[in-house]
Amino acid sequence: MCGIVGYIGRHQATPFLLEGLSKLEYRGYDSAGIAVYHDGKIDVEKCVGRLDALRQKLIGHEPVGTVGIGHTRWATHGKPSDINAHPHVDDTGMFAVVHNGIIENYMPLKQELVKKGHHFKSQTDTEVVPHLMAEYYNGDFEATVRKVLSIIKGSYSLVFLCAKEPDKIICAKKNNPLVIGLGKGENYIASDIPAIISKTRDTYILADGEMAIVMADSVRVTDLNGKPVDKKVFRVTWDAEAAEKGGFEHFMLKEIYEQPKCVRDTLRGRLSRENDEISLPELNWTPDFLKKLRKIFIVACGTAYHAGIVGKYYIEKMARIPVEVDIASEFRYRDPIIDDSCLCIVISQSGETSDTLEALKEAKRRGAATMAVTNVVGSSIAREADQVIYTYAGPEIAVASTKAYTTQLIIMLILSLYISKLLGKIEDKRLHDLIQGILRIPEQMHEILENVDPIKVFAANYASCEDAFFLGRSLDYAVALEGALKLKEISYIHAEAYAAGELKHGTLALIEEGVPVIVLATQPHVYDKTISNLQEVKSRGAIVIGIGMQGDKELAKHANSVITIPQADEELAPILAVIPLQLLAYYAALARGCDVDKPRNLAKSVTVE
Ligand code: G6P
Repeated sequence: MCGIVGYIGRHQATPFLLEGLSKLEYRGYDSAGIAVYHDGKIDVEKCVGRLDALRQKLIGHEPVGTVGIGHTRWATHGKPSDINAHPHVDDTGMFAVVHNGIIENYMPLKQELVKKGHHFKSQTDTEVVPHLMAEYYNGDFEATVRKVLSIIKGSYSLVFLCAKEPDKIICAKKNNPLVIGLGKGENYIASDIPAIISKTRDTYILADGEMAIVMADSVRVTDLNGKPVDKKVFRVTWDAEAAEKGGFEHFMLKEIYEQPKCVRDTLRGRLSRENDEISLPELNWTPDFLKKLRKIFIVACGTAYHAGIVGKYYIEKMARIPVEVDIASEFRYRDPIIDDSCLCIVISQSGETSDTLEALKEAKRRGAATMAVTNVVGSSIAREADQVIYTYAGPEIAVASTKAYTTQLIIMLILSLYISKLLGKIEDKRLHDLIQGILRIPEQMHEILENVDPIKVFAANYASCEDAFFLGRSLDYAVALEGALKLKEISYIHAEAYAAGELKHGTLALIEEGVPVIVLATQPHVYDKTISNLQEVKSRGAIVIGIGMQGDKELAKHANSVITIPQADEELAPILAVIPLQLLAYYAALARGCDVDKPRNLAKSVTVE
């Protein structure tokens, strides 16, 4: 998720562009750039690294002009580099474009444009946009933007500058945020309110399918067919800090609520609703390569390790290849039996976790094929692995990982489907049902996020407890591990997850009157057994909160209270069931007055052993 700014008015654009981008720095980025119109030309300055690097670069030749756009990039297609930084321009330099999102069909578009003589400099998906503008420009900037928007597929907030029509900036939005700040004789554009809050509090929040023609003295909003849209002014009343969090009290809550979008972004272009295709062009695996695999290792730390446990269930169940999951710090020192007959998958949100990186190197040294699942393009782990699949969760700021986890599960799931399909291990009907189910997940996540009151009540009632237990079998156990980690890391309540069947081998001794036990019961094949375990703790005085599927009457009979998730295939349940657990941890921490986003003693990225 990149940062976008734009300015048109009477003042110099560059100071605002740099200041606005600096207000978006908290989101994380790897490169920055600006484009300013002056005297018939667009001057583009950009470079990899922090905004300070760009500021240094501009010393002595700061772009002059009163119309400009700027961008901080969070790499998705193409590593962080000067060339991949935005703005991007066409061959003649007539159009400059900044973009937040993913252009799904950029590959065929690029191939076509290259045939027509366009020269591409970057590896980005975005660069097709200025080239398309140049290809279709007919003397009408606005009409050309509409034309280009009708060609590209995917998600975007896009901002366009045209050297032939410098009296306007045009911007458009689909599935990515964009706001227009309304000034007097000047107007602003930004991907997020913090960038403009020091200039104006009157805004138009663009909706999907809208575009805006922004001039110094006017802003005209239309739909994609050019039909005017009557926008209401939205007055921002948040302070600067709240604005950074999009109006949420904490980054963690914001990130929990971003999950439907992150899942959509991570799925984009990878699953086809129409023909059950799974597209992972990042991988060049053949059935032969997969057939020869003796074992797959999944290695990670923290929440990513928990995603790995779910991945093991998926791969073993669907592709029938043995999988071993390891904590990276254990793997690297335990002399693992891994060689060139194995594949090692590492999972890491940041792509920088030292133990995971070293484990990856160790696996490589021993001859294993390697693959990384990570959220950060160009990170050390992404560079080190033979192959990489990216999650598109955008920058995760809260220390407690939420949206990274659910997008990691999505990748592990489609990876398992991809492997099983290549190996001919999955029936067409099953594949079809799962793909359709996966595509419903973002909507189902929304549904959960709209009904959080029961979770708040439970969190408030039990926030003062000292211990909590999470139980589940099969995939529910994997989710229980993540639920317990979330609760302990941000609320400091001692929380343990147990495989429900293992309870009576020790943990049951800890269950006494009033202890909260969260029981996950979303897996039909072990449902009855889970209910028996639930009864074991309940009869010893535990207060049981059940997490089950909608319509589960049985669970309601046994648990003290029940939180439901929408009906989903058992394989998909973890991706939904974790959300109430994230919220439970969040509201418990809030009730205890903890520093939710920055829990004591913990760091977001652990680059030491
Ligand atoms: C830290 C973070 C966790 C994260 C773990 C692994 O402990 O606080 O949220 O799960 O590192 O990080 P990675 O970036 O490799 O996924």
